Amino acid sequence: MALRKLVYHPDPRLKKKCAPVESIDAETRALMQDMLDTMYEAPGIGLAAPQVGVLKRVLVMDVVKPEEGDAEPFMMANPEVIWESEAMSTYEEGCLSIPDEFADVQRPAEVRVRYMDETGETREIDCDGLLATCVQHEIDHLNGKLFIDYLGPVKRSMITGRMKKRKKERATA
Ligand code: NI
Repeated sequence: MALRKLVYHPDPRLKKKCAPVESIDAETRALMQDMLDTMYEAPGIGLAAPQVGVLKRVLVMDVVKPEEGDAEPFMMANPEVIWESEAMSTYEEGCLSIPDEFADVQRPAEVRVRYMDETGETREIDCDGLLATCVQHEIDHLNGKLFIDYLGPVKRSMITGRMKKRKKERATA
């Protein structure tokens, strides 16, 4: 098990559009496995490659809480939303790159996502509930977008201000 170092907001790597993965090779599979391990360790329910400093279109997710059932990990390369519902839903979101900050974000309640799995096979899944929110949040990361980008400028700059302060404290600790 290899844990990767998390990248924290604000960081230019979290604002970049990531490059597609051409094929699922050993390096990509190792990245996916490391990301899953890092996500479980955090703990979190989703993680995108730029959050570990890799600017590739790769994400991992598992929205099942350990106490609620067996793990249902997803590893995705080049995920794209190919359909979204008109109905919206609101969840209180957080992010491993923006620890201890949470805010309501409204997104389509259901989405269909096409992606390449860890074996290189192309798949489609229908997502609703927390999985729909999570997959949209993680795909946003691959386009350099954070959940705080959905908030008003005042709230966003307050959160960014708190994050900058924490970085400074960590650096001088
Ligand atoms: Ni996030």
